[in-house]
This record gives sequence, C-alpha cells and structure tokens, in this order.
Amino acid sequence: MRFPLLLLTSSLLIQSSMGLGMSWLSGGLVAWSDGGGNRTACKDLKGVSKRQLRFCRRNPDVVPSIAIGAFNAYSECQYQFKKRRWNCTLLETSEGGGKGLETGTREAAFVHAISSAGIAYRVTKDCSKGLSDKCGCDHTGNQRITSHSSTKEQFEFEGCSDNIHYGIGVSREFVDASERVKNKSEESRVNLHNNRAGREVIEKSLRRECKCHGMSGSCEVKTCWMSMPPFREVGETMREKFDGASEVIISTKGDETRMTMKHNHLKRHTHADLVYMRQSPDYCNIDESRGILGTRGRECNHTSAAMDGCQLMCCNRGFKKVVKRSQEKCNCKFIYCCKVECQTCFTEETSYVCL
Ligand SMILES: *[C@@H]1O[C@H](CO)[C@@H](O)[C@H](O)[C@H]1NC(C)=O
Ligand SMILES: *[C@@H]1O[C@H](CO)[C@@H](O)[C@H](O)[C@H]1NC(C)=O
Ligand SMILES: *[C@@H]1O[C@H](CO)[C@@H](O)[C@H](O)[C@H]1NC(C)=O
Ligand SMILES: *[C@@H]1O[C@H](CO)[C@@H](O)[C@H](O)[C@H]1NC(C)=O
Repeated sequence: MRFPLLLLTSSLLIQSSMGLGMSWLSGGLVAWSDGGGNRTACKDLKGVSKRQLRFCRRNPDVVPSIAIGAFNAYSECQYQFKKRRWNCTLLETSEGGGKGLETGTREAAFVHAISSAGIAYRVTKDCSKGLSDKCGCDHTGNQRITSHSSTKEQFEFEGCSDNIHYGIGVSREFVDASERVKNKSEESRVNLHNNRAGREVIEKSLRRECKCHGMSGSCEVKTCWMSMPPFREVGETMREKFDGASEVIISTKGDETRMTMKHNHLKRHTHADLVYMRQSPDYCNIDESRGILGTRGRECNHTSAAMDGCQLMCCNRGFKKVVKRSQEKCNCKFIYCCKVECQTCFTEETSYVCL
C-alpha cells in the first residue's frame, strides 16, 4: 500500500505550512498501512495533537477503529473522485518542499467531511460487533410492538441497533481536537463546520431493517433494528454535498466570527452543507508546490460531455487513443485422449488518454 504514506506526507505539510490540517488522518493511515494494523496505538499515530493524544490514552480501545475509519474514508474519496480532475490522490512532497491539498477549498471540505464520517461510521460498526467494552448496541430507540395486521398477530422484537451516538462522539472528540485551538483561524472554522456536516450524514443515514422469522417467511415474528447503510452510500451523499457546496465568507468582529454565504444571501447554508472559503485551482497542470498532479496521462471518455469527457478532463490540451492488443488461448477443446487444443484469440482494448 503506497498511497497512505503519501497522505501522511502531504497532511503533515498542510499542517506545517498552514498551522492546521488533518494530521490525525494521516496518522491513522500510517498506523493502518505500516505494520498490518498492528501499530494502532496512539503513540504510533504521527502528527496528533496533545489533545488527541490525551483522548487516545483514555480510550485506547477505539484507536484501531479510528485508524481503519480514516483509511476507509480515504479509499472512498478516491472512488468518488476517480472520474474527476482532482481524484483524491494526495501528492507526495519531499520534506520542506511544496504542500498538499489546499485548505479551505471544496476538496478540503470533502476530505474533512468524509474522514469525520468514516471514523464515526467505523467506530459505530465496531461497537455493534462488540469490539469495545465502552459501547455496544443501542437499545434506547427500540420498543416491542404487537400489531394486528388482518387476522394475524405480529410480534416484533428488538435487535442490535447501531449506536451512532458513541461513534459520533468519538469522531467529534478526536477529529475536531486538531482544530480546537484558542485563536481559531478562518480555516479552522470552516474545517470544524465540515467535520460536523460529515457526521450529520451519518446521523441521517440510520434506517430500519427487519428480519422475518416464522414459518416459511410468514413474518409472524420479526426482529428490527436501526442500521447504517454501506459506507458507499455515505460516500455518494457526500459527493452530492460536494457538488452543492456553498462558498462562505468568514468575518471577525471582536471575539465573534460569522460565516455568511458569499453569493446567495437568501438561502443560508445549513449545518449539513459543505462550505468552502477559497476557490479551487483547476487541477489541470502539474504544480507540485501546491500538491496538484495535473491530468496528463489520465484516462478520459471521448464520448462523454461530463467531467470524465476528454475535453474537460484534458483541459482542451487534447488526448490520444491507446490500443492495447493482447492474445490469449481460447475455445479450448479436450481431444480424446488426452490433449487439449486451443485457438489463439486476439483482443483489443481501446482507451483515451490525456496529453
Ligand atoms: C503483528 O504483531 C505480531 C505479534 O505481536 C507479530 O508476530 C507480527 O509479525 C506483526 N505483524 C506485522 C505485519 O508487523
Ligand atoms: C488571532 O488571530 C488573528 C488572525 O488570525 C490575529 O490577528 C490576532 O492577533 C490573534 N490573536 C491572538 C490573541 O493571538
Ligand atoms: C489520479 O491521478 C493521477 C494523475 O493525475 C494518477 O497518477 C493516479 O493514478 C490517479 N489515481 C487513481 C486512483 O486513479
Ligand atoms: C463514456 O460516456 C458515455 C456517455 O456518457 C457512456 O455511455 C459510456 O458508458 C462511457 N464509457 C466508459 C468506458 O465509461
């Protein structure tokens, strides 16, 4: 696994160049990738703040869940953006040179939100599996219902509901800790908002699931519980929020900071919206000092008019057709006795690649 280490470098650089960042995330990724999940003690997490260290010391049993949650968030980010110019691959930068993903941008908003959600999600799922003494299933929302549908009596029993309150609490404590400094910067305000928006997606994702018991699926007796959807769905929701993100202006008056919409003054952003304060670069050309890889060599779709289409993906630089020819044995027949005869088939795979 190569990319988690890349993230470490770039995240640390965000932190050192801008005084804040997502070093907790990189820490989680390194712990996960380096040592096969063995090194998930908090002291192995690089770049965590004092506050986060204190959190880990008090809650050592959730640290592995945090690490894996951060890793899953990063993979999901790459999946959601694989057809866009910025594809959530964070750039490895040599020490002291360059920096990673620019803070305050739409992309940074997404990374914050999905990471915060990923950790809440994983901690919650691990709680439901019984991996920690401190948490378990949530039984508070369950009730036993006896209903009469037509003539049959139905019995419903409570199952193990995902305990999102604990998972969200862990995410809030751990993820937000890196932004909790006395004199918050404008970026910190924005990051905290997006961290929270990510957790809100988890909160709203809970849905009821039921399982029927009884004679041949008659559902006379069923067990129901509240459960989070697969993380992929969380990723989809988050990408929609990315597309609908609002640009905000942070204004400071004395001790008070306010976040206001830059363009649409009528519609206010809500807690659940992603917000950004800085326009994104176009991500067209490589610029290592800003952590931008550029789109040269990226695959594009020559019939699509969307972001994955060659015009947009390649930023009008043009593209080339690449034909990959390969041959393999095919139509094999067994001939009595005892040999196998095959034909050789040629296959062609065409793709288009940005110049
Ligand atoms: C994980 O730890 C176990 C025992 O502590 C050790 O045997 C194993 O080699 C470690 N795995 C890695 C990948 O470091
Ligand atoms: C807080 O930060 C602002 C700018 O971010 C700065 O102008 C101000 O002096 C800082 N205040 C303190 C007490 O550090
Ligand atoms: C993301 O884009 C870069 C170049 O822009 C490319 O090297 C990398 O393979 C891409 N990553 C994925 C997961 O497609
Ligand atoms: C390319 O885009 C077209 C139109 O959007 C779509 O129908 C097609 O499936 C895409 N091809 C690939 C390989 O993604």
